[in-house]
Amino acid sequence: MWLELPGTSDKMTENKGSILIIDFGSQYTRLIARRLREGGFYSFILSCNNLEGIKQFDGKGIILAGSNRSVNAKDTAFAKDLVESKKLPILGICYGMQLLAQVYEGKVEKGRGGEYGYGQVSLSGTSDLLPPTIKDVWFSHGDEVISMPANFSLTSTSGDGVITSFENNDKGLYAVQFHPEVAHTVNGNEILWRFAKLCGSDNNWKADNIIHSLVADMREKINPEDKVLIALSGGVDSTVLAVLAQKVFGKNILPIFVDNGLLRKNEGVEVVAALKTLGIDIIKVDAAAEFLEKLAGVTDPEQKRKIIGKLFIDIFEKTCKEMGAVEWLAQGTIYPDVIESSGDATSAAEVIKSHHNVGGLPDDMDFKLWEPLRMLFKDEVRSIGAELGIPQEFLQRHPFPGPGLAVRILGDVKPEYLELLKDADAIFIEELRKANLYEQVSQAFCVFLPVRSVGVMGDARSYGYVVALRAVVTDDFMTAKCAPLSHEFISMVAGKIMNKIEKITRVVFDYSTKPPATIEWE
Ligand code: XMP
Repeated sequence: MWLELPGTSDKMTENKGSILIIDFGSQYTRLIARRLREGGFYSFILSCNNLEGIKQFDGKGIILAGSNRSVNAKDTAFAKDLVESKKLPILGICYGMQLLAQVYEGKVEKGRGGEYGYGQVSLSGTSDLLPPTIKDVWFSHGDEVISMPANFSLTSTSGDGVITSFENNDKGLYAVQFHPEVAHTVNGNEILWRFAKLCGSDNNWKADNIIHSLVADMREKINPEDKVLIALSGGVDSTVLAVLAQKVFGKNILPIFVDNGLLRKNEGVEVVAALKTLGIDIIKVDAAAEFLEKLAGVTDPEQKRKIIGKLFIDIFEKTCKEMGAVEWLAQGTIYPDVIESSGDATSAAEVIKSHHNVGGLPDDMDFKLWEPLRMLFKDEVRSIGAELGIPQEFLQRHPFPGPGLAVRILGDVKPEYLELLKDADAIFIEELRKANLYEQVSQAFCVFLPVRSVGVMGDARSYGYVVALRAVVTDDFMTAKCAPLSHEFISMVAGKIMNKIEKITRVVFDYSTKPPATIEWE
């Protein structure tokens, strides 16, 4: 089984101007969608196993994405059917190129050790797809096309003569062995945008149109009399959702904010005040004691997520009972949450964490679930937030996980640990802001390690806890690099934390990239 994405019946997948990206499990697939959308071309991803969804696709063009598999190891007959039945322009990338080669009687074989990382190509002949400047590219493949498919012209090769692209303009078929979606391919975006233009795809994926299509979708799906509960976390996604839903449904939305005691320092109070300024009158439920009681003694991260997800729903249901019938639960789930929570044991996209706003919901809720932002990337949510008048300061806030500090305290979530973590985290964030670094970092926080370490305070021996500083830069939170904070800055923050919080006697810095680590520690 390949990756199966939920949401295939979503209205946006019916977008007539769109480009369909067929996923074969490559870690880069979602980048293709982002790059196209950055250029204003709407695209979405379907699993290659979703034959029904693919059959129904009625847009402008198709991209066959990459895979770590070999076209010689798997039945690829469907690719032939696809090409013949759809009669749409198709771009094959990496494995997708090898599929096209195979369909048209080219030959694919295991390469001489594969090509991974930077490479260079040189143009041979003319190409509708490749910009004339194409040279530096990013490869990630083991197999190679060793003989050209019939009726295609070769458009580029790499230094040692390997076939790196070909096309058949009459049929509208294009293929590249390298990855135009990866930033290291210079002008890679242009290749994807040129393909979108060759398809005649509408170049209208802009904030105002996204809002328009979301509003149309809301009106169609939700009855004007229905009451919609909005689960607010104070983060960007649920806030954008609430502001939008409020514009459409006015008084019928119930924005509930549950203070689960797992929030950052003073966050409960700040969120209520900030949302008030945006015209959202929050119903705040204080449930810290309940959450901590249910989490006591629980050490497994996935179990923590499930407990928190279930308790959120119990509280929503209880609060709603007091308010009369509520039909919908709206959540600010976005596309990366959907992708990362979908399960497939064989591909790169197996379940990494069941993000609670997707994976941890109980099956027997009293509500129908509504996730209107589930096809959007974070930058798209931010741009529609700006269009809706939400201040940048709010939109640029670092994301915060639904299960909150429970997944930043390793193991048992004790009230004492929570207080220490909140204090340490507040210091780190304040220093980042003071140094004008907050906005240069995609996400920063402290993690509490429940281990004791020996220190010295004055002349006495101390035996305190350890916190780790985590700061990452990332485009999409799918991959991340450690933020390039200076050694001096990190040491200064560590010093402040240890000086101000007596029980913390050691601060470490997390240099891990994602992958292989994840951003959160649990
Ligand atoms: P990871 O740790 O998976 O984090 O690399 C990627 C992004 O997702 C956030 N995250 C979560 N968000 N519920 C959420 O709503 C969760 O259970 C959860 N786990 C991680 C994380 O903060 C980062 O932004």
